[in-house]
Amino acid sequence: MEDRLGEEEVREALRPGLPWTDPVCLAVTDSTNRVAMEMAENGAPHGTVVVADAQTAGRGRMGRRWVSPAGKNLYVSLLLRPSVPAVDAPLLALVAGVALADAVEAVGVPASLKWPNDLYCGGRKAGGILAEMASDPDGVRHVVIGVGLNVNMEEADFPPDLRGTATSLRIFAGRAFRRVDVLARLLDALGTRYAEFVGGGFASLRDGWDRRDFLRGRRVLLRRHGGEGWGTADGLDTVGALRFLPDGGPAIESVHSGEILDFRR
Ligand code: BTN
Repeated sequence: MEDRLGEEEVREALRPGLPWTDPVCLAVTDSTNRVAMEMAENGAPHGTVVVADAQTAGRGRMGRRWVSPAGKNLYVSLLLRPSVPAVDAPLLALVAGVALADAVEAVGVPASLKWPNDLYCGGRKAGGILAEMASDPDGVRHVVIGVGLNVNMEEADFPPDLRGTATSLRIFAGRAFRRVDVLARLLDALGTRYAEFVGGGFASLRDGWDRRDFLRGRRVLLRRHGGEGWGTADGLDTVGALRFLPDGGPAIESVHSGEILDFRR
């Protein structure tokens, strides 16, 4: 199967009417997020797309690495210059999650979303989002949304510590995908979901999250500012916070940032 991810293919994947522009396609780089953040500081426009075929220092959340071998997956960073207050900018990562799930389902793979930034297929992680932001007292200067999606990885391509917990579209579906097709769906979905968010806030995307919520009703181990503890996840509220009932706690709490360290299957 022809599976190039060159500038020409990526340019063809950009649909008019969406913000995406000026695609930069790199054979290999350290991190597309780092490149996009640097381009942002140097004045690159809203909608700039950075894609790499391989990353040597792919960044995950919480300082983790993102395994990024050549020719297998999607590593994409999108530069946005949103007119939103800095406190709302982290919601863009949730918006990107809903869009990523839209894109994965559009190529025929059922997807669920694990708060805050993971895409799951068949109970294993297939993708993740890393949003990085620069702001000043006047508000958000720019946000870079980094999306890593395991497309054609096979079990043996994963390092041993990730086998069993990570997956790819190919492993789940039993067939390979043209990466540029998946990228085209992702850019369409993210352009559309971003417009919905700008127009109506996170509330307008909540359905897209709720029907794919991987954690809802599950027992989860949450780490947040102030410590770790088990409790039950109860979906997201209208502003994208996790509703969490701590074990033994009297009431549901709204958690705006944190990490799920473990969950009961
Ligand atoms: C996570 O689940 O921890 C987030 C992973 C985000 C990985 C993507 S790959 C493209 C972009 N460039 C990076 O260095 N990281 C993000």
